[in-house]
Amino acid sequence: RDGPPMLWGIELKWISLITLALQNAFLTIIMHYSRISTSPNKTYSAASAVLLNELLKGSISVVIALKRIDNEMSSSSPPPVYYEKNDSKISDRRSAYKLPSLLHSTRLSALSKALFSPDCYKLSVPAILYVIQNNLQYVAASNLDVATFQVTYQMKILTTAFFSVILLRKRLSRAKWASLIMLAIGVGIVQIQSSSAPAASTPSAPITANHGEHQLRSEIPEETMINAERVMHPLRGFLAVTLACLTSGLAGVYFEFILKSSSGSSPPPDLWIRNTQLSLFSLIPAIVPIVVSPSGPAGVGYVGRIMSSFSNFNGWAIGTVLTQTFGGLITALVIRYSDNIMKGFATSLSIIISFLASVALFSYPITVSFVVGASIVLAATYLYNSPSLPDGSQTRTAVAV
Ligand code: C5P
Repeated sequence: RDGPPMLWGIELKWISLITLALQNAFLTIIMHYSRISTSPNKTYSAASAVLLNELLKGSISVVIALKRIDNEMSSSSPPPVYYEKNDSKISDRRSAYKLPSLLHSTRLSALSKALFSPDCYKLSVPAILYVIQNNLQYVAASNLDVATFQVTYQMKILTTAFFSVILLRKRLSRAKWASLIMLAIGVGIVQIQSSSAPAASTPSAPITANHGEHQLRSEIPEETMINAERVMHPLRGFLAVTLACLTSGLAGVYFEFILKSSSGSSPPPDLWIRNTQLSLFSLIPAIVPIVVSPSGPAGVGYVGRIMSSFSNFNGWAIGTVLTQTFGGLITALVIRYSDNIMKGFATSLSIIISFLASVALFSYPITVSFVVGASIVLAATYLYNSPSLPDGSQTRTAVAV
């Protein structure tokens, strides 16, 4: 009972890390494709995708939280009497729906007590940061190719380390800092290769996905899957990635702090309660950009605006949102059972996976600088997580956020 949580005989920690690596690789590809495969005026709204993601994640989290409350209650008390009555009406109704025991008022009041705990306001910080980050990810995915986005996004290891040192007061050995610098160099090399190609002498020059991304690499045959009207702005993409790295690092570290710190003598609330709180606090910042958007229809009210913002959702958009929702749930498990630094390791593994997939799916060219840059990123990630490095990553004192 005291050992680490296991699933199918494997530590949950490893299962969640490997699943996150696969999910990250898939998300980068599906998000990029979902954004560039339609003309700009037919593209689904990123803000609505973020909102849908939060609604789904929140709903799943609340059901799991209720289930856990239910399990806790039934393990500590005998089953309620109404289960044992052989009244056909009651048992029919109860077997018709599986939820009644979860929706029983005792469970609901335990849930609301846990959700509206005195410290629940703390979740508003990572919630707002994650909403901003999730929106920025769509901007980046629309303006950078899959592999460049993936490798550049690894800079979040650097921002995570920075915020872990500042907020969680973790100590990093010199060797760990050296591997972080290596990481930055590797990311820089990948960035140079994507912005120094002939057709884009300045990285800010917009390029069309069809005649830009592939003009940059003229040896590549015309890609028919990418929409010809789509314009990509590499500088905008890099800016979005940089900001997403900052918000990812800060939000992740802050969430880890909340999750692992106990307030007073009581144990910290369950992960799924924290996740539900996170989603609840995300709703307002996720809804605001939709209702204030100047491109929304006039005279339909807030609900009408929200509904119409989903008008361009196609199968790819829904697939992207589902992948992101799944990723959010896995990320929470990884932060809970490992930490943000291990999360960085898992996501950099996803570079290899999505790079290989990009070669196969998008005829992505294997350039020397990409291979060199990506290899440095991977070597740095390995070094950073290497158990042989002096361990300087413990928390120095009580966290002070
Ligand atoms: O890029 P990064 O790994 O920081 O992204 C983390 C993702 O996980 C974000 O989309 C965030 O919304 C999601 N997340 C979540 N629930 C958590 C922690 C993160 O949905 N508890």
